[in-house]
Amino acid sequence: MDIPLKSYESAIIDKVAKAASVLSTETYLVGGFVRDKLLNRETDDADFVCVGDAMALATETARQFSPVPKISYFKRFGTAHFKVLLQERNDDGKSEKKYFELEFASARKESYRTDSRKPDVEPGTLTDDQNRRDFTINALAISLNLSDYGKLIDPFQGLKDLHQKIIRTPLEPARTFSDDPLRMLRAIRFAAQLEFRIDENTWKGIQDSAHRIKIVSQERITDEINKILLCPKPSIGFDLLFRSGLLKIIFPALHDLAGAEYKDGQRHKDNFYHTLQVVDNVAKRSDNLWLRWAALLHDIGKPATKKFEEGHGWTFHGHEVVGGKLVPKIFSRFRLPSAEPMRYVKKLVELHLRPISLTKENITDSAIRRLLFDAGDDLDDLMILCEADITSKNKQKVKRYLENFQIVRQRCREVEEKDHIRNWQPPVSGEVIMETFGLPPSKPVGVIKDAIKNAILDGLIPNTYEAAFQLMLEKGNELGLKPKNISS
Ligand code: CTP
Repeated sequence: MDIPLKSYESAIIDKVAKAASVLSTETYLVGGFVRDKLLNRETDDADFVCVGDAMALATETARQFSPVPKISYFKRFGTAHFKVLLQERNDDGKSEKKYFELEFASARKESYRTDSRKPDVEPGTLTDDQNRRDFTINALAISLNLSDYGKLIDPFQGLKDLHQKIIRTPLEPARTFSDDPLRMLRAIRFAAQLEFRIDENTWKGIQDSAHRIKIVSQERITDEINKILLCPKPSIGFDLLFRSGLLKIIFPALHDLAGAEYKDGQRHKDNFYHTLQVVDNVAKRSDNLWLRWAALLHDIGKPATKKFEEGHGWTFHGHEVVGGKLVPKIFSRFRLPSAEPMRYVKKLVELHLRPISLTKENITDSAIRRLLFDAGDDLDDLMILCEADITSKNKQKVKRYLENFQIVRQRCREVEEKDHIRNWQPPVSGEVIMETFGLPPSKPVGVIKDAIKNAILDGLIPNTYEAAFQLMLEKGNELGLKPKNISS
């Protein structure tokens, strides 16, 4: 076999070939595994196609492993898969398991989709199966049959496309994309992931069929967007999404950032391409998907806040607040987790101007304490985002901003060492306030809590229970509240 295999991969493939021989079933290694191996990329799963009963092939293969893995059968589709444990690491009491997944499918005549809900699978030959795959580089097959073991079966010159770094559909693009419109996003994702170019005819097919993306489920679309975001240079994918017409349909809020308006000799920057640069900058420093989402959304409030002010030019006042409010809506539309990652992304969007505002004036301890309190454990990520946000072409300006950020970082370290604000909670809690004044959860509780927090952060009262309790009584008095158990 002319592909560089790891020893466990060879062992696994040998077992499949042995099972195929026992059952006399024509079997091939196909799809992403072949592509990735030829590109020397890591992979942790492999697809096998047989001209026959894929479930029987899976069963026969699984029998050769010890212990015998549990197989999931999808009878309606005639497919099966199981995973085998490669290694188990124990680091600091946490066990980390590494698996390799094997997927078995019978060669079929219709579109090859791993998650297709259509059960009417019509058996076909290897050629039928290759015809209905998405791209030439994904339609390569390697024989696991005794007669021509290891032979590459490449009807569409996929190997040549791999070498020339081209994404191309095996059939007419309109046909391939109408079988499964998600493939338009896959084309763009592969172009971004592998840094390949999309063949001209295929690209035209995407532009022509873009509107059909509407029939694809949001989960599958979101999955591809996340994969684009996780690429080394996500801007490649988002730029292609924009130019193909897909972005306008799948992510209108991001699309609306594009364009640079001109008035009275003043032009604002194109916030879409600025955003892409910020995402790329973040991607160079962090693999955190959610930090990359924060970069993607950091200026999402700009279109709604854009104004031309005489004498000032273009302004986007409050775009961080408006952007923060849009985050939950976008997360809900994209069916992204609504709890923790959403809170984190919202917070970073809301705070993304804060460090830069600190570089413009003499930084007071109080301003630093507020930043530490508001950003908490996400301060380092916020600083990465802010530094990534400097996309000016003026080298002097960039240098000055970065130096200022270093000063902010240093001041944060000093104040944190002194005051331990990062994970700090004000000494008097909402419960104490409710208990003292006999209040249910209500607005006055929040008002008093904020007053205590602000007074401590501003250094007006010490960070002690006694001082906070005293201030609580004073604020309560101002609001006409009487403490329950303290006689006046
Ligand atoms: N496939 C396809 N059309 C799709 C999805 C998949 O033709 N919409 C085919 C391709 O031949 C692909 C194979 O099914 O190589 C396996 O699909 P999948 O595991 O989803 O993708 P991979 O190519 O392995 O790549 P990745 O895991 O990065 O998605």
